[in-house]
Amino acid sequence: MIEIIPAIIAEEFRELKKKIRLVEPYVDWVHIDIMDGKFVPHSTWSEPKKLKDINTNLKIETHLMILDPFKTLDDWLRAGISRVIIHWESLKLNPEGQLKKITEKVKNYKFQIPEPQRRVKKRIYPLRLGVALNPETPWQEIKAFVKNLDLVLLMGVNPGRSGQSFREEILPKIKALREFSANLNIEVDGGVKPENIRKIIEAGANILVAGSAIFEARNVKMAVEELRQR
Ligand code: DX5
Ligand code: ZN
Repeated sequence: MIEIIPAIIAEEFRELKKKIRLVEPYVDWVHIDIMDGKFVPHSTWSEPKKLKDINTNLKIETHLMILDPFKTLDDWLRAGISRVIIHWESLKLNPEGQLKKITEKVKNYKFQIPEPQRRVKKRIYPLRLGVALNPETPWQEIKAFVKNLDLVLLMGVNPGRSGQSFREEILPKIKALREFSANLNIEVDGGVKPENIRKIIEAGANILVAGSAIFEARNVKMAVEELRQR
């Protein structure tokens, strides 16, 4: 199944809430971009503890474009999100060791964290981990980890801002990763538009994140539908 996920970059909590409300009727997931001004030049809203104040049925994934994600991981895991995505490039010292530590931590949350935004008391959902790769980073760098991940996010642009053009050289990378793993969720983020979404799906992606194609459209509902129909 192909999933279209709106990407939200918010300067402040109000903007985040507003954008969630805007897309809520049309999608199942939302992708929140978190930036620290260090891993990428810009910074965004970043208060995991406040996230629970948003009462929504949407599943939330946070794309952490931050250095040393392990430091704030606990806060994000407790925030009631369904998936956390960290950047391979943000793990500077001993990245393999750090990714192992992160994988363990997320796994241990698996059976403890309900999704509070769904107001489901008894059922407990697994929390998922994704790893994002910048356009220049070969996917083979995380080959050994792929089997333990829910998802690999391949950036179609350099992380940091919305509205950039998709880099076509990512297409062979998507294809190669799909050949390596038939069942992996391959998410593509950055530059996804109605004009190129078909190519990206044909290369092997099954989750498509779109920021400007949705939020800069005059009609959000139509923008989501247009991406779905391609
Ligand atoms: C880029 C972010 C993306 C971005 C997508 O750093 O991770 O999620 O907001 O926006 P568009 O679709 O406009 O490239
Ligand atoms: Zn993103």
